[in-house]
Amino acid sequence: MKKVIDQITDVVSEAFEIAGFDPALGKCTVSNRPDLCQYQCNGAMAGAKLYHKAPFLIAQQVADVLSAEPMFAKVEMVRPGFINLDLNAAYLGKLLNELEVDPDCGVEKANPPQSIVVDYGGPNVAKPLHVGHLRPAIIGEAIKRIARFMGHRVIGDPHLGDWGLQIGLIIVELQRRQPELPYFDPQITGGYPEEPPFTINDLEEIYPHASKVSKTDEGYKEEARQATYALQQGRPGYRALWKHILNVSVNDLKTNYEKLDVNFDIWMGESDCQDLIQPMVDQMKVDGHAYLSNGALVVDVQEADDTREVPPCMVLKSDGAAQYETTDLATIVQRKADFDPDRIIYVVDKRQEMHFIRVFRCAYKTGLVAQDKCALEFVGFGTMNGKDGKPFKTRDGGVMRLEYLLGNVSDAIYTKVKSNDSGMSEAEMREIADKVGLAAIKYGDLSNQPYKDYIFDVERFTAFEGNTGPYIMYSVVRIKSIMNKFMAAYPDAKLGHIVPPESKKETDLALILCRFNEAIYESYTQNAPNRLCHYIYELANSLNQFYGEHNIMKESNPEKQASYVAMIRLVLRVLETSIQLLGFTAPDRM
Ligand code: ARG
Repeated sequence: MKKVIDQITDVVSEAFEIAGFDPALGKCTVSNRPDLCQYQCNGAMAGAKLYHKAPFLIAQQVADVLSAEPMFAKVEMVRPGFINLDLNAAYLGKLLNELEVDPDCGVEKANPPQSIVVDYGGPNVAKPLHVGHLRPAIIGEAIKRIARFMGHRVIGDPHLGDWGLQIGLIIVELQRRQPELPYFDPQITGGYPEEPPFTINDLEEIYPHASKVSKTDEGYKEEARQATYALQQGRPGYRALWKHILNVSVNDLKTNYEKLDVNFDIWMGESDCQDLIQPMVDQMKVDGHAYLSNGALVVDVQEADDTREVPPCMVLKSDGAAQYETTDLATIVQRKADFDPDRIIYVVDKRQEMHFIRVFRCAYKTGLVAQDKCALEFVGFGTMNGKDGKPFKTRDGGVMRLEYLLGNVSDAIYTKVKSNDSGMSEAEMREIADKVGLAAIKYGDLSNQPYKDYIFDVERFTAFEGNTGPYIMYSVVRIKSIMNKFMAAYPDAKLGHIVPPESKKETDLALILCRFNEAIYESYTQNAPNRLCHYIYELANSLNQFYGEHNIMKESNPEKQASYVAMIRLVLRVLETSIQLLGFTAPDRM
């Protein structure tokens, strides 16, 4: 369905034209004074300068044309020159019935669909997922699902950190502990054991230990650097070990992401673009973009109107080693070859913004991708803080593992569900707690603009009232329960047709329902799942107010009653579609 706001703008623009003014002035918006009207047009104000005419005169002329328009119940000129608009109930009724038969609840699909890569998650192998990995996973997953719902071809890729110094550190530490393993013997070049010489638990102990030692022991660190280099040069024993590290880690990562209902389409990492680095760098040299500066190979990316210094993009370090920039650049080459993307969206900590500014500029400047063909977009997210306003930590100051956090929140919900004492089995209560807990965490995160830091407050996020995931879940469950009651009482009722809204609350609900298309579109174009959260919160509020005034089960007019039920069923569909896009699902009861 065409966006309602566009339908209105079309009609108002035409009226401007008929009245002899520029149709571009007819742009309408949702009213910022819902107590006065539903929609408004401020075009006459801008028209005043253009036509040297008092804005109220222009507005009045346009309003006169619009007065014959059946779409509106009210067209009102308000001084100094606003046009206030209310839709006609019959028109709203027609829109609702269009939504009712549309499997996508009115959302317009992208035409033509684009190819989009969403780079999110960014975990490093051999390190456990901790709360720092929560935001990219949650935000990236939502951005991916929303884009896909719009009809685009979307590839989600975690872009694993699988090639850096952390592997060298593990190799060195492992060699100290088990020097007899065949991987360390340069004479042996194949036939390594199938079984990894460690478990994920071992790795999670080995890595932090090695990392700590390397901070004080320069020799140890140098050894790790050399091991990393040898690995990257292809030393067979190290490669074999690396594969073990990768397998063990990725299996564990998959299990953890699954708990978050986060699913990647491909599992690629920094290591996958290694073969593309040399040819890419050579080309940059040939084209004269890359030059040597203090031994390092760099590309200038400062631009004339920059207000701050943007240091050159370092393509190779002075020892010839690839950098974080290098792998991101070569990965662009690889993604172009594999997917020819129209957009690549990076969901990464906002502290890495400068890195991405440089990488994007360098990619465009050196022609890895063309600026008008492939949009490189950075969605930087802020820090998730504890109640003390500092980055979230465990009680003893360590980084909190993701599993632990999920468990905590689920327990908080469980306690609430249990205290309701509604006779559910233990297993059902646990299942509900997990679902609602995930909703609490994800909604708590996504309802903030990604760039902002936010405070993770278990108590607030798990509240059943207010702007929270559980409140949305509760609204979904409430509709399901009313529908069940209705279907039990009237098993033969025919649902479908929605009659034009009459009461204020009905009309408000109808108006919000008709804005789903816009909410999805804005979330998509602005990489802002918070827009969708805001929308469903409004929808849930409006629904609950509607209930407050209309007792569906006691409605005496059967046509009206069936229409109410069809309308709340539509709300249910919009809510369930939305939460699915945000990455969680609702239980049947709670
Ligand atoms: N692994 C990186 C880190 O831990 C994040 C990767 C983000 N994605 C990217 N294309 N650079 O900081």
